[in-house]
Amino acid sequence: MQHQSWAPFAEGRGNMFGNEALSSIAAKHNKSVAQVVLRWLVQREVVAIPKSVRKERIVENFDIFDFELSADDMERIAALDTRDSLFLSYHDPEFVKMLGTLRVDL
Ligand SMILES: NC(=O)c1ccc[n+]([C@@H]2O[C@H](COP(=O)([O-])OP(=O)(O)OC[C@H]3O[C@@H](n4cnc5c(N)ncnc54)[C@H](OP(=O)(O)O)[C@@H]3O)[C@@H](O)[C@H]2O)c1
Repeated sequence: MQHQSWAPFAEGRGNMFGNEALSSIAAKHNKSVAQVVLRWLVQREVVAIPKSVRKERIVENFDIFDFELSADDMERIAALDTRDSLFLSYHDPEFVKMLGTLRVDL
């Protein structure tokens, strides 16, 4: 089973690019918030699928293999988890009903 992160930047929701903890970790490593987010996923062996329409950002998003987040960085980022989704509500009966209709043909 391979975990994948579709929308690793949450489509920019939740002020991810302005997050204080991510910004300070990024500054420490001389990297961008986007690079820290992608590096965090890669270090957890999650495949990241970011999207950008800008060439310089696409290049930036690949440039994450020359630094390493420390265990403390990793914990600080994990602590940002709100245990809620920015996209949908798992408590919405209509959404749960819709999930029940999905099927995957293998
Ligand atoms: N979200 C979903 O539920 C979903 C479902 C199915 C498939 N996908 C696919 O998954 C991929 C993920 O894309 P996504 O748009 O959903 O979400 P995303 O990658 O989380 O966020 C994309 C947003 O981040 C910005 N961005 C990208 N790189 C950046 C950087 N280095 N610095 C600052 N901002 C940056 C982009 O702006 P700019 O483009 O202006 O740079 C865009 O506004 C896409 O290929 C999408 O088709 C997503």
